Amino acid sequence: MPIQFIRSSLFASPKNLLRTLFLVTKLRSLAMGSYTASSQSSKLFFRQLFEKDSSTYTYLLADVSHPDKPALLIDPVDKTVDRDLSLVKELGLKLIYALNTHVHADHITGTGLIKTKSPGVKSIISKASGSKADILVEPGDKVSFGDLFLEVRATPGHTLGCVTYVTGDGLDQPQPRMAFTGDVLLIRGCGRTDFQGGSSVQLYKSVHSQIFTLPKDTLIYPAHDYKGFSVSTVEEEMLYNPRLTKNQETFKGIMENLNLAYPKMMGIAVPANMVCGLQDTTS
Ligand SMILES: [Fe+2]
Repeated sequence: MPIQFIRSSLFASPKNLLRTLFLVTKLRSLAMGSYTASSQSSKLFFRQLFEKDSSTYTYLLADVSHPDKPALLIDPVDKTVDRDLSLVKELGLKLIYALNTHVHADHITGTGLIKTKSPGVKSIISKASGSKADILVEPGDKVSFGDLFLEVRATPGHTLGCVTYVTGDGLDQPQPRMAFTGDVLLIRGCGRTDFQGGSSVQLYKSVHSQIFTLPKDTLIYPAHDYKGFSVSTVEEEMLYNPRLTKNQETFKGIMENLNLAYPKMMGIAVPANMVCGLQDTTS
């Protein structure tokens, strides 16, 4: 957009003024390399990362308008910790938190390794998970990084301690909002409910009361995807999720008849993740 147009439109009308301010902010963000298609916030840096063996998504978020560029990682995987930490370093971010949405059964969390390689980073998991971490969060808690924050919502059902982290509600927070749902809500699916304190009825209630009540344009970022999807919205899942659009009884029946084998990594991953990946896993 020509600078001249931006200047002249400044005086055209209040509507144009707002539009111009948005465009200037967007252009500045593009120049900084921090703009993402998923958010119009000029402050949020956001990156979705993937670990192919367990089809796990790790999310990097940072407040790049803050002088320290404080950052956090959601659901890091041990195998990709070096990749994630290199990216953080290259981008000049300061990693302060490594969060888990729940105790994973299919891979070992990267939080333990991150703490070893990057001292000062604090691990976070829900108190309800019964796991060890530097910070144990409860529903309603806020995880702040710079001027941005994540809200903690209890979404049990896949495991007893599952939480969903949702970006803040407010004009100075990313719009649309973003929900990091772990395994409770996947794109056109949901996590299994047959172990780790899982409950299909609880999962159904969690999704309907804690996620489907968010604004319809809220972006859904799950912990896994096995079909090549990367993001969805509350509205899409309310319309097209083949399981959670059913009534509770039908949903319960679907979940009781999945007959899934236990994850290959379960015997190793669960004990390791109960201590945020800090146990010796080399043996
Ligand atoms: Fe899981």
